[in-house]
Amino acid sequence: MPNSMKAAYLPGNSTVEMRTVSVPKPAHGEVLLAVKASTICGSDIRCIYHEHLGKGPEGYCGVIAGHEPAGQVVEAGPGCRRFKVGDRVLVYHISGCGLCPDCRRGFMISCTSAEYRRAYGWQRDGGMAEFMIAEEKDLILLPDSLTYLDGAQVACGFGTVYEGLEKIGISGNDAVLITGLGPVGLAAGALCRKLGAEKIIGIDVLDERLEIARSLDLCDHVLRSGPGNVQQVRDLTGGHGVERAVDCSANAEARATAIRATRKWGRMVMIGEGGSVTFNPSPDIIHDQKTIYGSWVSSIWRMEELVEKLVRWNLHPEDIVTHRFTLDQAADAYALMATGKCGKVAVCPGEAR
Ligand SMILES: NC(=O)c1ccc[n+]([C@@H]2O[C@H](COP(=O)([O-])OP(=O)(O)OC[C@H]3O[C@@H](n4cnc5c(N)ncnc54)[C@H](O)[C@@H]3O)[C@@H](O)[C@H]2O)c1
Ligand SMILES: [Zn+2]
Ligand SMILES: [Zn+2]
Repeated sequence: MPNSMKAAYLPGNSTVEMRTVSVPKPAHGEVLLAVKASTICGSDIRCIYHEHLGKGPEGYCGVIAGHEPAGQVVEAGPGCRRFKVGDRVLVYHISGCGLCPDCRRGFMISCTSAEYRRAYGWQRDGGMAEFMIAEEKDLILLPDSLTYLDGAQVACGFGTVYEGLEKIGISGNDAVLITGLGPVGLAAGALCRKLGAEKIIGIDVLDERLEIARSLDLCDHVLRSGPGNVQQVRDLTGGHGVERAVDCSANAEARATAIRATRKWGRMVMIGEGGSVTFNPSPDIIHDQKTIYGSWVSSIWRMEELVEKLVRWNLHPEDIVTHRFTLDQAADAYALMATGKCGKVAVCPGEAR
């Protein structure tokens, strides 16, 4: 085991700082992972990369960046009960106290302990490094048929979307609208396909993203964002609108489109974070008996269930990765993700498979 390693930090001025730091030792109940894949999320750009905007659970504490890690256990600290050296794992990216009502539901994202709730890459060291410490209770086993790049994306994006889609329910009865075709919206397209959605319509402002959604066959129809979107969606759905909508854009107009393009009795889920939305409750939701859900990450058991489903569905989140970088190139990786002219962007500190 080397004594030192490279690690990436985000000073908050649209740059990445590489530092050489000590390789940490796992304490009781912790493991040391050799990080194999670490993907970049829209939240990293929105809350940390350009400026340290986040507060509370989105506050960045100057730690090693990266909240979507997958890797291999290279050392297990004392007291580990299940995971051992050699295991391939992904990390549920928020470590909670384990004892509050939210943690007991598996939603460590919503842990209420001010002392123990710490998210990897936000308040404790994350995956943009050669090695990282993770608590054993935060690990999910990665089956042999899934790659580390598959696993890294389950840690946040695919896990988040799966939870949101399970809340609104997706089946062959449903036409689904996805607003925002960044990596999270692309994940929604990929999962809606496997859940049997009858028709998938995607909207974005960036041609590059519309093209990725089309070329990977994640949407049946892609629309450029604009004031005519609600009518266009109705035209594609017999004049009624979609049964289900998923906002992955966080944009006010796109959110309003998702609400208005959902038909009577329909359901939508808001996943994109930050910003606002304006709508008129009576015509837009109340009189049409519609339901709006909010969904924040996922429970760890749902994430584990998704891993099993990915194997059975033969679905590889890695397919939406358009660009891979070495750890030394982390600055280029964040800069590219900030442009939006890409699918998922990944950093692979070790050789990924
Ligand atoms: N709820 C959660 O738990 C959770 C978890 C992970 C990420 N997120 C959030 O999900 C969102 C998406 O994440 P991502 O990694 O795909 O980020 P991203 O920023 O790459 O994706 C957002 C997409 O929305 C598009 N967009 C912007 N304005 C639009 C408009 N008017 N109409 C249609 N599309 C528009 C952008 O072009 C971009 O492609 C972010 O807000 C992120 O913070 C939420
Ligand atoms: Zn994320
Ligand atoms: Zn807790």
